[in-house]
Amino acid sequence: MRTLFVTGGAGFIGSAFVRLVLDELPSCEVTNFDALTYAGNPDNLTGLDASRHHFVRGDIADREAVRAAMAENTDAIINFAAESHVDRSITSADEFLRTNVVGTQVLLDAARERKVRRFVQVSTDEVMGSLPEDGNAYFTENSPYEPNSPYAASKAAAEHLVRAAHHTFSLDTVTTRCGNNYGPRQFPEKLIPLVISNALHDETVPVYGDGRNVRDWIYVEDHCRAILHALEKGQSGAIYNIGARNECRNIEVVEAILNKLGKPLSLIRYVKDRLGHDRRYAIDPAKTEAELGWLPLETWESGLRKTIDWYKENSEWIARTRSGAYREFYARQYGTEVGAD
Ligand code: NAD
Ligand code: DAU
Repeated sequence: MRTLFVTGGAGFIGSAFVRLVLDELPSCEVTNFDALTYAGNPDNLTGLDASRHHFVRGDIADREAVRAAMAENTDAIINFAAESHVDRSITSADEFLRTNVVGTQVLLDAARERKVRRFVQVSTDEVMGSLPEDGNAYFTENSPYEPNSPYAASKAAAEHLVRAAHHTFSLDTVTTRCGNNYGPRQFPEKLIPLVISNALHDETVPVYGDGRNVRDWIYVEDHCRAILHALEKGQSGAIYNIGARNECRNIEVVEAILNKLGKPLSLIRYVKDRLGHDRRYAIDPAKTEAELGWLPLETWESGLRKTIDWYKENSEWIARTRSGAYREFYARQYGTEVGAD
């Protein structure tokens, strides 16, 4: 059995990745190491094959906890664990530095110590800053680092640490940079699940600024498939930009969701803009497509339909996530209160 050490696997993308690995790689088992912050949700892990999925609650910035949880024969580390929300990083950057920067270095040290074969850092297009609106410029793997939010800066710092571990210690690393993910099990602080859950409750939908900021959207499973390709086929030390060539203005996203839900556009409420709000993200995924032989399977239409259907069918998930009642679930499931150990 091949053992993967997945961090942040109770979050939105990490849990989709764990599901994909367990479904598609029968000879793999997963140690899922997650601190269960507000964004980590044991509900995201229901129905997984318990013989190949081992959940350990722990903090990636805690060296001893990482050592204790990581099996001697760990084949690869895939690091999803992070503070991931830009708005929270604007309020306070402390946790972003601790988890995203210190935590990544702790994992890199553990990878060397345990002679782990490969380290995959799940990063973001936001490390490359913001593009002009004219539509002719794209992020490539050679774009300069220009992080604009504390979140983006912490992820850029993590990328530098990964690069340094590769250069200095010959650690086998791969860094993936993706754009905005959407799909099932995303915490409703992010635009798409926020719009869906508010609209389902007939609540107003907040749109920042003029609503014309552009994001490059990708269905979460397509992102996870690309990470799997990078793990298996990526060149050591390389960066891969992942995107589905799907740029949309925020207002178009919001209107599409309201229309599909049959809700009135009068629910839209323009609110104060995010500080330092990046105008446009757009990824050129040509290198990933060519080198890794990867292409997205979902279109914007099919991905958004699946996403909306999932939230409609999982109103309990939304209710628990919104109320924080998933903590009660945790106590029932693991026999201990969140924060007790
Ligand atoms: P998320 O916020 O949904 O999940 C993060 C997970 O990490 C949670 O389960 C949380 O409990 C865990 N975590 C946080 N701090 C931890 C710590 N100190 N130790 C252990 N676990 C900890 O995030 P997501 O949207 O699933 O993003 C996952 C990764 O992908 C992040 O690294 C993020 O930067 C990156 N990314 C996200 C997107 C996106 O659109 N969401 C796009 C590109 C890259
Ligand atoms: O590009 C990749 C990044 O995408 C990831 O690295 C981040 O982890 C992820 O959170 C996401 O960052 P964004 O800031 O782009 O995502 P968010 O869903 O917060 O916002 C998407 C756009 O919608 C952005 O332009 C801000 C806007 N927005 C967001 C919220 C929450 C609104 O207009 N209203 C809102 O209420």
